[in-house]
Amino acid sequence: MAAVAHGIRTVGVIGSGQMGLGIAYVSALRARVPVLLHDRSEVQLKKGLAFMDKLLEKDVAKGKVSSEDAKDAKDRVTVVSAEQGLSGLRDVDMVIEAVSEKLAVKEAIFKELSAKLSPEAILATNTSSISITKIAAATIPEGQTAASSEGAKSASRVVGLHFFNPVPVMKLVELISALQTSRDTLDRARAYAVACGKEVTTSQDVPGFVSNALLMPFINEAIMCLEKGVATREDIDKTLKLGMNHPMGPLQLADFIGLDTCLSIQQTLYTGTGDSKYRPSILLERMVDAQWLGKKSGKGFYDYDA
Ligand SMILES: NC(=O)c1ccc[n+]([C@@H]2O[C@H](COP(=O)([O-])OP(=O)(O)OC[C@H]3O[C@@H](n4cnc5c(N)ncnc54)[C@H](O)[C@@H]3O)[C@@H](O)[C@H]2O)c1
Repeated sequence: MAAVAHGIRTVGVIGSGQMGLGIAYVSALRARVPVLLHDRSEVQLKKGLAFMDKLLEKDVAKGKVSSEDAKDAKDRVTVVSAEQGLSGLRDVDMVIEAVSEKLAVKEAIFKELSAKLSPEAILATNTSSISITKIAAATIPEGQTAASSEGAKSASRVVGLHFFNPVPVMKLVELISALQTSRDTLDRARAYAVACGKEVTTSQDVPGFVSNALLMPFINEAIMCLEKGVATREDIDKTLKLGMNHPMGPLQLADFIGLDTCLSIQQTLYTGTGDSKYRPSILLERMVDAQWLGKKSGKGFYDYDA
């Protein structure tokens, strides 16, 4: 079977946090596609660009990327300011949304995207757990229904494209079809992930898909061990590293993912299944209350340099 062309001439990335920046990086460097990077926070946009420069410099120093390719990748990224908003993404062929793991925020963004972008543009979300089907339903234009041809067409271009952290390093993308996603959207989204240098697995649209339905209960159990005083944070992580050959322990991994993101995913698993085995630990909730969000905020289960 001939490979499907993704046909993406420009990609929009929404969210310049750890995931959005990584997606912009592989899009510009590996897929060689011009990127419009948007965030509602100018601080995050600045931080993201500075981080991309650092990553490129590192890859050049290690001999993984030539200085010409690094310069080309950098030149392919253009910022769309908070002031320009989503209107600045009007002409892209695909958007990959990577904002905070909150359904209401994502629904509002997809509603606006469907009104502002061409009906042919693919609308992908990097959500870790939220129903892609629900996000797709948010794109049905005002006055249309899910069954009308315009409503169905709009929802059919929404897809889950779940990259992993850190994006430049992790080889996987989990592809998730909403109930409404068309074959063409799925094929082109898969082709795009491959162009970014990734391998692709497919999962059903269930809370947490495969990856987080397995990972989050594991992380939550580790936090509950700490909460109950079963062992110290160091010994919990060391047990998994040295006993099971994991590259890092679950508490450090939670810090790297972001504790707010872990909590949101666990809440989606808990409410989405009604199964008590997914109930987030109180300690995790309190740490997020305290704004101890892990590596990105400088403090989580461990302390990090700002
Ligand atoms: N962290 C991980 O390991 C990981 C892995 C896979 C997928 N994800 C998913 O990727 C998404 C982003 O996660 P992250 O870790 O990059 O989070 P993050 O907190 O690092 O970044 C989120 C960014 O979204 C921006 N943002 C929030 N609301 C916005 C809006 N309305 N418009 C524009 N920008 C907005 C914030 O300013 C911030 O820069 C989440 O859905 C998360 O579940 C995360």
